[in-house]
Amino acid sequence: MGVQTAPKANWREGFKGDNYTLHKLHSLTGIFPVGYYLVQHLFFNSFAAMGPKYFNAIVYFFNVILPKPVLYAMELLLVILPLLFHALYGFVITYHGKANIYRYRFSENLAYTLQRVSGVYIFFFLLYHVYSTSISHKLYGTDIYYAGMQAQFQNPWLVVVYALGVIASSYHLFNGVWNFCIRWGFTVGERAQRTLHRWCMVGFVLLSALGLTALAGFFMHEPIPSPLHTEGGQ
Ligand code: HEM
Repeated sequence: MGVQTAPKANWREGFKGDNYTLHKLHSLTGIFPVGYYLVQHLFFNSFAAMGPKYFNAIVYFFNVILPKPVLYAMELLLVILPLLFHALYGFVITYHGKANIYRYRFSENLAYTLQRVSGVYIFFFLLYHVYSTSISHKLYGTDIYYAGMQAQFQNPWLVVVYALGVIASSYHLFNGVWNFCIRWGFTVGERAQRTLHRWCMVGFVLLSALGLTALAGFFMHEPIPSPLHTEGGQ
């Protein structure tokens, strides 16, 4: 009698979005560092609501705190690469996934679809956001302090694009936290899953409010001169 062995994992499964290890890594990177970075980023940007002095101080601090090569290496390893992996594997999962209207309730199918639609929106939003701020600042010295950002937001369409970006990212993260806890076995029973879902929706509303406060902050104050000339390399 032949001995049965488990089917061997092969690299093709990765491209269908059902490779176990890649899927777990995708799930983990969504929480850390990508999710963690999102919360921190919106928190620091909300300083705009307190005034240009506070917003400029925080941007300046992150631009001069470390020698430039260390700063760029940390950005690459802790933000860009994990986000790129999460986004690209997210596209693979989205491409191969199907909502199941017969097995699951409408709300579950809606959450499933919104997780994917928000992921795709965030991807294109982040391409624009990172290019128009961080990359343009490094390449062309574009002003990313209060005055520069306020000037950008004179375009009302951009304000809409940013508001949707904040809401989509907040939903994606908190619906993701709910999925994550099920996937990793932290919430097993139906009651625990329902309770956590409610808390995650509270988290979604609070994080959206934080991000929208940051955006509104650019309409609350008069600008002050940006400290661009003192930034320099270290
Ligand atoms: C702000 C940036 C992002 C954050 C904070 C984030 C966070 C998360 C989290 C926490 C999860 C749940 C992981 C799990 O199901 O165990 C998740 C899932 C997912 N993310 Fe992202 N993500 C981001 C960007 C993206 C982008 C750009 C895409 C590109 C399409 C994407 C596609 C997906 C997909 C398809 C899932 C569902 C995976 C599944 O159900 O198996 N995400 N994300």
